[in-house]
Amino acid sequence: MSRITLPPLPFAQDALEPFISARTIAKHHGAHHKSYVDKANALIAGTRYADMDVEDIIRESARDPGAKGIFNNVAQAYNHARYWESMSPGGGKPQGALARRIKDDFGDLAALDAQLQDTGEKHFASGWVALVWTGEKLAVVDHHDAATPVLDRHVPLVTIDVWEHAYYLDVQNERPKYLKQLIANLIDWKAASARFDALG
Ligand SMILES: [Fe+2]
Repeated sequence: MSRITLPPLPFAQDALEPFISARTIAKHHGAHHKSYVDKANALIAGTRYADMDVEDIIRESARDPGAKGIFNNVAQAYNHARYWESMSPGGGKPQGALARRIKDDFGDLAALDAQLQDTGEKHFASGWVALVWTGEKLAVVDHHDAATPVLDRHVPLVTIDVWEHAYYLDVQNERPKYLKQLIANLIDWKAASARFDALG
């Protein structure tokens, strides 16, 4: 049974313009993300991973020297699903419990935004930046290649793709510009606030 799915985009392909083009979204979701999903399903078929939850596949395959391909593709499928649900055309501001926690852990939203930007700019090569709930506090973390907060049992509230394929068609190598536009205009803080509330 196929456990990994390609979720539909929660917005129209051109909804994030002018910051992220429809061309980038089409390729990123329809080719890159789809390829990770297809490869993940092909690789787990008939293995002990086939009936596990996605997060269990990620944690188990990370410890399995023979499952590098499974880890990379399943973790990338997971990370991309988190990325799409982290953005919306309206952006918005953190609400309720998440807004209060941001004040406690970062001082204010501007300080959190600056940390997301700085971490994304300094991350070397391909990877991910995320705002996570560690179980005790909010934190900004970065991960290389396909690695993910799931490995630390952290809950990603906002996930930002810093692989070049996320921005190269639009701003070429200007990752700081991609980050600045995304952080200022596209983070779906309403959805992140709901995810935080759902943690109880
Ligand atoms: Fe990506």
